[in-house]
Amino acid sequence: MVVLVTGGAGFIGSNFLLRSVVARPDLTFVNVDALTYAGNPYSLEAIAEAPNYRFEHVDITDRAAVDQVFDKHDPTVVVHLAAESHVDRSIASPDAFIRTNINGTFHLLEAFRGHSAGKEGARFHHVSTDEVYGSLGPTGLFREDTPYDPSSPYSASKAASDHLVRAHARTFGVPVTITNCSNNYGARQFPEKLIPLMVLKALAEEPLPVYGTGENVRDWLHVDDHCEAIWAVLDRGKVGETYNVGGRCELTNLDVVHQICDVVAAETQRDSDALRKLITFVRDRPGHDLRYAIDASKIERECGWTPSVSFTEGLRQTVRWYLENPEWIARVRSGEYRRWLAEHYDGRHSA
Ligand code: NAD
Ligand code: TYD
Repeated sequence: MVVLVTGGAGFIGSNFLLRSVVARPDLTFVNVDALTYAGNPYSLEAIAEAPNYRFEHVDITDRAAVDQVFDKHDPTVVVHLAAESHVDRSIASPDAFIRTNINGTFHLLEAFRGHSAGKEGARFHHVSTDEVYGSLGPTGLFREDTPYDPSSPYSASKAASDHLVRAHARTFGVPVTITNCSNNYGARQFPEKLIPLMVLKALAEEPLPVYGTGENVRDWLHVDDHCEAIWAVLDRGKVGETYNVGGRCELTNLDVVHQICDVVAAETQRDSDALRKLITFVRDRPGHDLRYAIDASKIERECGWTPSVSFTEGLRQTVRWYLENPEWIARVRSGEYRRWLAEHYDGRHSA
């Protein structure tokens, strides 16, 4: 059986494929990825020659190319991860988010409907975010029936894609499942997101730019636990259902950055207080959601999934991974990345 994974060269996709290609030799995995700035084929070197792995350099905004991939590989299952994924970039230039996250998802759904939906075991699994629900106040949790209320162009485009997936299920009977997951961290995450950005900046002893007051709360989940959640839903989830995925690990951004300083200090024999002094409060993100927190009881109850990596252990592993993989870091630090840092952070130091 062929499993088509979109966005497999990105952070979650590469971790998903590295685990799955080895653990599930009976399945053939086709990675469909446009290799944007966020896609890094170097992340996949360990499986590049595996007999059950193929790579297709395809942009999902190209409808004809998507159809050709379906014709060529005849997938039964799609795990849709490809997206523009960074909130700050969606504020700076939203167009690509509309094209990839909305139009790209639509193209995949149409191709799946035409080629795969009638097959035995067919499934379109859409990987989405808790950000579609908007922002929580100090209390409460996102449940699967929480109304959508996205704040950023990123979360609005993901909300639109979720709606398209459900529309294809209701209108055309396409067998779908959706997971809405909280913030992931772990190896191979592009250093634009909070945790890898702060790890690399702490290692370089550069200012650590915390937006606003640092009191915003995120619910952190190790990427390996997210990958297992996707498999739990593929294997045991009910077609047509949505499952929220989260780590029961709420932390303020300031807490996270403090812990990063402590771990980086411990792993590199530096002084944690000196690293903490690098924290700089900078101008807040427009429309910055205050708090995300997930009620994951449905996936726990119905699919038998629970997170297994503690934040303390996961963060230590993550810092070690970045320390042990300077070549990976060098490859993602392209001119494009340096340009993003210069445009986004220079002159922002006015909280
Ligand atoms: P990422 O930005 O690291 O990777 C995205 C991948 O998609 C890259 O390999 C990129 O090349 C590819 N891609 C982008 N545009 C494409 C296009 N037009 N055609 C084909 N490929 C394209 O993202 P990630 O953090 O791995 O997130 C993966 C998915 O999980 C996304 O859908 C995201 O919304 C969702 N998600 C992420 C998180 C998180 O914390 N990272 C949490 C919940 C849900
Ligand atoms: P991010 O990793 O971009 O994920 P998301 O916005 O999807 O939750 O950001 C996580 C939190 O960290 C968010 O509240 C914004 C904050 N943040 C900073 O304070 N400084 C930074 O440089 C970045 C990238 C994020």
